[in-house]
Amino acid sequence: MTAELNFEDLKPRVNAIQEVFQQKWERFRYFVLDHSDPKFIEHLKAEWRSGDSLLDMAVEAKDELERLRIELIGKKSELAALKKDVGRIRKEQRGIAGQAVNNLDIFIGNPLRDAEDQLQRLINKLRTESERIDVTLPGRRPRRGHLHPITMLRERIEDIFVGLGYAIEDGREIETDFYNFDALNIPENHPARASQDTFYTTDGFALRSQTSTVQIHAMQRRGAPVRMIAPGRVFRRDTPDPTHNPMFFQVEGLCVDRGISMAHLKGTVAEFLRRMFGPETVTRFRPSYFPFTEPSAEFDFSCFKCGGVGCRICKNSGWIELGGSGMVHPNVLRAAGVDPDVYSGFAFGLGIDRMCNLMYGLDDIRLLFENDVRFLEQFD
Ligand code: DAH
Repeated sequence: MTAELNFEDLKPRVNAIQEVFQQKWERFRYFVLDHSDPKFIEHLKAEWRSGDSLLDMAVEAKDELERLRIELIGKKSELAALKKDVGRIRKEQRGIAGQAVNNLDIFIGNPLRDAEDQLQRLINKLRTESERIDVTLPGRRPRRGHLHPITMLRERIEDIFVGLGYAIEDGREIETDFYNFDALNIPENHPARASQDTFYTTDGFALRSQTSTVQIHAMQRRGAPVRMIAPGRVFRRDTPDPTHNPMFFQVEGLCVDRGISMAHLKGTVAEFLRRMFGPETVTRFRPSYFPFTEPSAEFDFSCFKCGGVGCRICKNSGWIELGGSGMVHPNVLRAAGVDPDVYSGFAFGLGIDRMCNLMYGLDDIRLLFENDVRFLEQFD
């Protein structure tokens, strides 16, 4: 059974709630103003100094205000308890007590809700402003890449030979022994055929160890006359060190026609090197041996750095060794279906990576294949 209460019994509790409200409301009282009122903002800045931005301050203030509302008029508040107790008041006083409690609810609840509403409006406004896109801001540039130094060099070489009337051949990276060795007049017992030097697939195919293989494909497909260069990857079982890599790039050149002589070879290579390194470049040929050419020659050119005086790049010799060349061996022409009694030709081959190394003064050929952007970026 609930005992009957008098209005007087509840009054101290009404007053206590009112007091708590008045005390705590101090911190929020300006928030019933319009959120754009300077006093509103000033008060927010003064009381919520710790926030990083006005938006932070407003969000913090609103959270705090919400907690205060729950404390004062929420379901578990003293006011809610008071409302329940109105039912226990003597009948004659119950109306007036109920009104007093309701008034208190309105007196506290209205400003709390108004202030929360204004803070929310300010928050919305500040959020919209912060999210607005400034269309006049310059865009972020995408990082532009560039070609790999070997590709740039390959393209320069291609341009020069295309200018001299040469076609560009692709070739294959995996070859049969016929293309990699037999057709190139490389004897059965030649050390290059050994698996210490050449990579073989489990099916017995060779990863081509030189671009000379493309000579055969080109002559078989195009017949004679033919003029082509073939840039591409080649593979050798070398342990990587500053001057070796098991995969590197070569360019092969082949010119077959009636009456082609060593003079054409020398003229072509010399012209290529002049276009590559400047008109004053001098070329020299030294006798050599390759199974697929007869006679064979290696060629050097005058150092592009010192002009032949001697420097670090040419190891003080004034000359830079670049590649091999020669008159295509009759056996090679025959293997590719070209009649050596009618046609003759010259061929040459050089390493692109080696050339790249020389031109850029690189100390280590492996840098070219490590895909380190910090290194590659320097060749833009
Ligand atoms: N294939 C040779 C090598 O890898 C280079 C070469 C020499 C190519 C003489 C030729 C040539 O076409 O005639 O060392």
